[in-house]
This record gives sequence, structure tokens and C-alpha cells, in this order.
Amino acid sequence: MTVVAGLARRASRARNATTRSAPKGNGNVNGKRILLIIGGGIAAYKCLELIRRLRERGAAVRVVLTRAATEFVTPLSVGALTNERVLTSLFDLSDEQEIGHIRLSREADLLVVAPATADLLARMAGGHADDLATTVLLATDKPVLAVPAMNPHMWTHAATRRNVARLAADGIEFLGPNEGEMAEGGEVGLGRMAEPHEILAAIAERLGGASGASAALAGRRVVVTSGPTHEPIDPVRYIANRSSGKQGHAIATAAAAMGAETVMVSGPTNLTDPAGVATVHVETAREMLEAVEAALPADVVVCAAAVADWRVADAAGSKIKKSKGKPVPKLDLVQNPDILRTVAELDAKRPPLVIGFAAETDNVVANAKKKLRTKGCDWIVANDVSAGTGVMGGDRNSVHLVTAKGVEDWPRMSKDEVARRLMERISKGVAKLRGAK
Ligand code: CTP
Repeated sequence: MTVVAGLARRASRARNATTRSAPKGNGNVNGKRILLIIGGGIAAYKCLELIRRLRERGAAVRVVLTRAATEFVTPLSVGALTNERVLTSLFDLSDEQEIGHIRLSREADLLVVAPATADLLARMAGGHADDLATTVLLATDKPVLAVPAMNPHMWTHAATRRNVARLAADGIEFLGPNEGEMAEGGEVGLGRMAEPHEILAAIAERLGGASGASAALAGRRVVVTSGPTHEPIDPVRYIANRSSGKQGHAIATAAAAMGAETVMVSGPTNLTDPAGVATVHVETAREMLEAVEAALPADVVVCAAAVADWRVADAAGSKIKKSKGKPVPKLDLVQNPDILRTVAELDAKRPPLVIGFAAETDNVVANAKKKLRTKGCDWIVANDVSAGTGVMGGDRNSVHLVTAKGVEDWPRMSKDEVARRLMERISKGVAKLRGAK
């Protein structure tokens, strides 16, 4: 992947993890049981609206409030909306003989943590069980959707990044946060909790399953890389490329729609996190590799990310200044790890199907065939990314599927359609590989 240098408000774009519009909720929540764990943040008030909407649509909602959450919403108001006893501590359960925390955690169809504060995420990532909320989250065997809300600096802090990556690798799904103005102090950035209608749509999508689409990949785990990577030059500048992440995100969406347990490791993009996909946000190639390795084992890995091949050997800790007479700085570049090749060369942990992309401007198929060999992967999806094609950043793509058996030329179609067709091929490929074992 050719790299171009970029200068931008890196801090605000760093580890982009936004949900700007509601995922399409094509499932339905009627008759479903939601265990809503409300964390202690200002956004907790939005949960009242969420409960109302869920109940209007026929869902049963049981609520656990953390101790801090009771500072923001009262058990009385939550109880009035849920028509259920609101639980705040482990001891609430002891006098209610018929229900223990194990049962509480398992009789729901889905657990939703909102707002998932930095502290609550840290405690979840650490496997704590020191209050009712964390105990229930540790004991559950049901899917968990976390809806983060916190100050933008807390969201981009390395500790929160680690915790989110850990939880996503553990199978926790994330929705948001959104970009916008914070309730406190008017600060603007990434950290606003998703809106009730967005959470409702994500819940409906999660519980509605594949909503008519085939569940051919149910029980399979698919890991997808998406987007560009950003390689820092100094705290404000970075090396990047023109990838939008649209193709990778579409593949992750298609995988989830076919019932796969899907983890997407994405570099910074402006796209919404796909509902039903555990999304891990990273910035650099090295972070991407680490997150992919943490997401293994998997049945399929699709490397659709446009990973920067090089990074600056010693990124400056503070902004590089220019001054008259001072020579223009020289960037000393070193090679980044090759994620696709690393995964394809694994021994015991090598996924049965490893798929790469080839972004080429010349000799597309010939170069893709060469990449199939040099990277050691099973298939390559080759696309022509020269300027005139509009593929980079655009909505359409024309690809060639290169396998050991030969080359298939697919007609030009939307990136969503490429993703669906690819996932169909993958589901057949996985079935064959399993059959051969
Ligand atoms: N890839 C990767 N890690 C890298 C570079 C590339 O995982 N450090 C993956 C991409 O996700 C893609 C495939 O390798 O699936 C090919 O990427 P591409 O950018 O087309 O090729 P490069 O390997 O970067 O080689 P070149 O830039 O020389 O074409």
C-alpha cells in the first residue's frame, strides 16, 4: 500500500470509534428479555427513554444500577418504567429467594451495559465481581452489548483502548461512542453515548438475528481488518493512505448478517461501527496486529485493511517545529509487520481460511497472484485502485478473486454486494474445509 503523509487533528480523529447514525434495526424485540446494567455517568438519563422504547415494543427490561448510577437516576424512576424491582447490590438478591445472580445473568436474552463508563469497562476487562453489575457480567452466558460514554480523553486513553480491545476479543459487542458535545463543560469529541433509538436498533438487530438472511456462518468466528492505519510522525502528524474502510466494514457486516461471530479490527475511519460486530479500534499497524492476534483463534480471517507498510522509526514526542534555515526533517522509515502474512504463517492457530486483498494500480491480477504466493494466504481479492477507478473511498468495486484454482473476474458492483458475494463464497469454502478434515 502506497502511503501519503497527512497532517490533521490527530487527537480528535485518533482511534475513531463513532456511531453517527443508527444501525438498521431489522430485528424485533417483542417478547425478548433485556438485562440493562446502568453505569454511573451523566448519560444514564438516556436509559429511561431506552427502557420506555423497549417496553413499548414488548420487551421485558430488568435493570441493575451500579452504586454510582444511583447518583444519576433513581431506583424509583427506573422501577416505575420497568415495572420490576430495580437491583442495586448483591444483597438485593439474598432476600429475594427465587432469584440469584447466576439466574439473573442467564435468564435474559441480552445484557446491555449503558452507559459503559471507563471504570465499568476496566472492571469488566479485569474480570472483577465486586458488585452486582460486574458479578452478573462475569456470570452470564448471554451476549453483552456495551454502550460507552465518557470524556473523549478517557475514551482515547491507552488504558481504555486496552480494556476495549480485551473486551472485544472476549466477544463483548460495542455500540459507539458518538462524536459530539459532552454534557460536562461543553467539550467536543468522541465520547457521547449512542442515542436511545440507536441502542434500540442495535438491540433489535442483535436479537432479531440474521433477519431472513442465511445463517450459513452460525457458529463460525470471522476476523476482519478494515480501514487505513495511521503511523505517527509527531503528536499532530501521521502517515496514512486513502482507504475509507467501506469494503472492510461491508465484509464484517455481511459476516455478522450470515450469523458469524464477527470481530472487526479497524483503523481510523469515519464510518459507523456495524451492529452485531465486535469492533476493535486501532491506529497503527502494530496495534492492528496485536488486536488481530488477540482475536484468534478464528475460522476465517479477511485482511481488507490498507495497512501502512512503513512507520517512522522514532516518532517525535512533541511537534516538530520548522524554522528559517533549519533543514527539512528527514523521515527515517522502518517496515511495519505484515499482518496477513503473520496470520497465514501461524502454525496451530492458523485459521483454516486466510484471505487478503491486493490493492494494485498496475498488472492487477499478476500482482495479486504473486501476493497469494508471497503472503501464504488462501485467496486474494484483487482490486484496481488507480485514481480513475474511484475504488479508494468510493462505493463500488470491481474485483478479481484469485485462488489456487484460478482467477474469477467479478463484474463491477457495490462494495456491499462484493462483501455479500465474498461471504457466500467463504461460507462454502469453510464448509468444504471442515468437510475435508
Ligand atoms: N497487509 C497486511 N499488513 C501489511 C501490509 C498489507 O496485513 N503490513 C495486507 C492487506 O490487508 C492486504 C494485503 O496484505 O490484505 C495486501 O496489501 P497491499 O497493500 O495490496 O500490498 P502490500 O503487501 O502492502 O504490498 P505493496 O504495497 O508492495 O503492493
